[in-house]
Amino acid sequence: MSKDMDLKKHIRSIPDFPKPGILFYDISTLLAHPKAWHTTIERLADLIRPHKPDVLAGIESRGFLLAAPLALALGTGFVMLRKKGKLPGTTVRHTYALEYGTDTIEIQQDAVHKGARVVLVDDLLATGGTMAAAVELLESVGAVVPTAACIIELTFLEGRKKLKPPVETLLQYDS
Ligand code: PRP
Ligand code: MG
Repeated sequence: MSKDMDLKKHIRSIPDFPKPGILFYDISTLLAHPKAWHTTIERLADLIRPHKPDVLAGIESRGFLLAAPLALALGTGFVMLRKKGKLPGTTVRHTYALEYGTDTIEIQQDAVHKGARVVLVDDLLATGGTMAAAVELLESVGAVVPTAACIIELTFLEGRKKLKPPVETLLQYDS
């Protein structure tokens, strides 16, 4: 796709969402633009391919938007990491701390083979809490996580410091 397309032009920033003082980076405008979205998927696929994934794991919900087309582009399977109570059958959970309270993510127990190379995919890395929890969950079911990948990194929050694996990010914002 477009080699010189500036993807930041397709991301809208909305002040004071979800609460006052937070600048929200909205990917709706990227999704709505077929060329920009195609370019996003191709560039992320190029970043992920060298890590030789067997499977991609998408984090509910915005991570699903990326992980499904990326899995098709890379010829891998796609596994869902979901918020609690959504997956049928035997599941494994991981609970993690938020600014206020806790959250829980789940995977089906038999979703990945032991030793499988699972690349984690989400739309955005902020504090890193969600990604770090997803890495823990995947490792607890025997996966190897060579890298995580997302579109947007809020570098000022230093989320990558919370993560064991490296993170590939397409667009960085320092405020
Ligand atoms: C957002 C975003 C990431 C996470 C990043 O998801 O899509 O998953 O927060 O934040 P962190 O690095 O501070 O953990 P959100 O929980 O808002 O849910 P959604 O994807 O369902 O919209
Ligand atoms: Mg999310």
